[in-house]
Amino acid sequence: MQVSRRSFFRRIGAGAVATAAIPALDSFALARGLAFTRAKQPGGPILLDRNENAYGPSPKVIAAIRDAAGSFNRYPRSTEEMEERLAHLHGVQRDQVVLTCGSGEVLRMAAEAFLGPGKKLVEPVPTFEALGKHAKNAGAEVVEVPLTKTYAHDLPAMLRNADAATGLVYICNPNNPTGSLTPREEIEDFLRKVPAGTHALIDEAYHHYVGASSSYASFLDRPVSDPRVIVARTFSKIYGLAGLRVGYAVAAPEVARKLAEERLPVGVNILGMQAASVVLDDTEHVRETAERSRNDRQEFMNQANDRMLRAIDSHANFVLLESGRRVDEVLEFFKKNSIILGRRIPSMEKYVRVSLGTPDEMSEFWRVWDMFLPHKM
Ligand SMILES: Cc1ncc(COP(=O)(O)O)c(C=O)c1O
Repeated sequence: MQVSRRSFFRRIGAGAVATAAIPALDSFALARGLAFTRAKQPGGPILLDRNENAYGPSPKVIAAIRDAAGSFNRYPRSTEEMEERLAHLHGVQRDQVVLTCGSGEVLRMAAEAFLGPGKKLVEPVPTFEALGKHAKNAGAEVVEVPLTKTYAHDLPAMLRNADAATGLVYICNPNNPTGSLTPREEIEDFLRKVPAGTHALIDEAYHHYVGASSSYASFLDRPVSDPRVIVARTFSKIYGLAGLRVGYAVAAPEVARKLAEERLPVGVNILGMQAASVVLDDTEHVRETAERSRNDRQEFMNQANDRMLRAIDSHANFVLLESGRRVDEVLEFFKKNSIILGRRIPSMEKYVRVSLGTPDEMSEFWRVWDMFLPHKM
């Protein structure tokens, strides 16, 4: 996607696909009592802040949750069944998968397993901040390496900063908050050169939103034979289960065992596992959601372009938009107008991260935007 002027017809095309070709999930969801799965609560603000799936999970989840309802009095007995399923899905052994309480738990576990006083985390900036925080909590040094001009990880610079003390390097692909990709060959080249004792955490939280791209391939779909690689995935984004907190890590058996030692003893809940098991089967829902999201992204870029705004080309379900104003002002103005936007990004002060909502929510976003910075056409 380019931030170049697009033809009227192309724009109409994207809008038409968004509203006509894809089944009307909202009414479908409502008919099944799924209204609560939407990010916006009735009368509450529009939530464009945490990159959730604004359309909600697969309708099949509700039945699964009903089925699980009778067992809430029990602790979850085991994560093994889900781990077995995920292992099968990714063509690995069961002892290579660790089911977690959101992929956020993978980041904490990796920090605790491979970092500590005297150790170093090398990560890009800006990126998803949780790992850096866990690293600091573990007493490790955090080295932040700015992204390149094209918002890819600056892997040569990350490599220059990696040494024998580097316990972990973080690769977030697509990267949050920029939505940008780092080319696959560059990551592979980096992995070949990174010090022997360094583990690489590849965060694929937004994997499903990447359209066809020659420079992207998941490290689960196309693995490398490097036992230091840990891949983190989540059920919070395309699968629409953010509130149920399920994620997982895939790694070599020895690494997975080390990670699992840092896992909360009974962290993943029964509901989450039940729902995750159902959404894994609903590949049609994933396909539809990814397609919707691509249309939503295109429409966002068109709207930004119409206003001569700069937006970073995104491969995820959010876009980083240059506001030209201090972000605090932007966030405050939107909050007053009942729209919550993403957090401040210290290294990109004038940018605001907008999670893509439903078409109605995004119309409201642009209405408020035009009140904030009147549209000069
Ligand atoms: C890149 C990235 N990784 C991990 C997470 C954690 O997600 P969760 O703990 O819900 O799986 C997020 C959440 O937004 C994220 O953006």
